[in-house]
Amino acid sequence: MIGGSGLLGQHLMREGGSRGYRVHGTYSSEPVPDLSPLDLRDHGAIEEVFSRVRPGVVMIAAAMTSVDGCESSPKLAEQVNAIAPGEIAELSRVGGARVVHFSTDYVFDGRSETVVEESTPNPINVYGRSKLAGERNVLGEAPDALVVRTCANFGWNRLRGKENNVTWILNALRTRKTVPLFTDQRVSPSYVPHVARLAFDLLEKEESGVYHAATKGCLTRYEIGEAVCDTFGLPTSLLKASTLAEAGLLAPRPRTSCLVSKRLERFPNIPHPTFRETLGDMRRTE
Ligand SMILES: NC(=O)c1ccc[n+]([C@@H]2O[C@H](COP(=O)([O-])OP(=O)(O)OC[C@H]3O[C@@H](n4cnc5c(N)ncnc54)[C@H](OP(=O)(O)O)[C@@H]3O)[C@@H](O)[C@H]2O)c1
Repeated sequence: MIGGSGLLGQHLMREGGSRGYRVHGTYSSEPVPDLSPLDLRDHGAIEEVFSRVRPGVVMIAAAMTSVDGCESSPKLAEQVNAIAPGEIAELSRVGGARVVHFSTDYVFDGRSETVVEESTPNPINVYGRSKLAGERNVLGEAPDALVVRTCANFGWNRLRGKENNVTWILNALRTRKTVPLFTDQRVSPSYVPHVARLAFDLLEKEESGVYHAATKGCLTRYEIGEAVCDTFGLPTSLLKASTLAEAGLLAPRPRTSCLVSKRLERFPNIPHPTFRETLGDMRRTE
């Protein structure tokens, strides 16, 4: 598991362990017990991990996920999000390992109400362009790879203090801070335990190509805040409606990026929860 210290990576590790896989994971910044260090800027280190672990499946959950960080450091974004995944896919193909790579709704421009797997990507920022190049490099090197796109990842982070789309709202409300939330950006948030389950289900069905993995529905960031308040019994009085323009973010953001999975319709046994259903699960597992 490359990026086992990340929000999604830690849930993938747990899911893999519960299904009987012997899981090896990597981190890149602060050490995490039982994970080994790996920096995707270091090709020699990637090769070393492959020769030491000899994996049967390689999951790439590592990425430079700061959208504004990518905008200000495009070379680093390209190395981590585009070049390294291609190198990993090549090593996997040569070593006979299956690849599961993770990507993002930000490969789209946000002008369509919803996007399916076959919709045409058109990224509008460095992060999106680097992730789209990563998808293409992975599928170019390992055509039977599985690429799972997610959107606005959320869930409990048991390894890092890093907040995500739901925990930052919760943390702010619980410390009585005002939470500015966009009314002009719509997303279909991805609950990481659900994504982890879905990724392993698809892997075990020997699926390949691009899949979307997000909760059912399409909500503004403000509506996400309202649902968090409802589920966790918090007052909505600290939610403040705001706009993307008011935030003055460095990188442009897609306005509407709601991922719909047409390809998952073939698998009625794979659950497809709503955002509120997954929030309920978060509350139960806090
Ligand atoms: N976060 C979102 O809202 C979001 C939305 C859509 C799609 N995605 C995609 O979902 C996937 C998982 O993201 P996440 O939400 O789990 O993000 P995350 O919590 O920020 O995790 C990122 C992971 O990448 C690792 N990493 C960062 N730079 C690295 C480098 N130079 N070398 C090696 N590892 C490096 C981090 O390691 P350390 O923590 O040890 O530094 C961490 O394990 C990514 O493909 C991302 O593009 C994320």
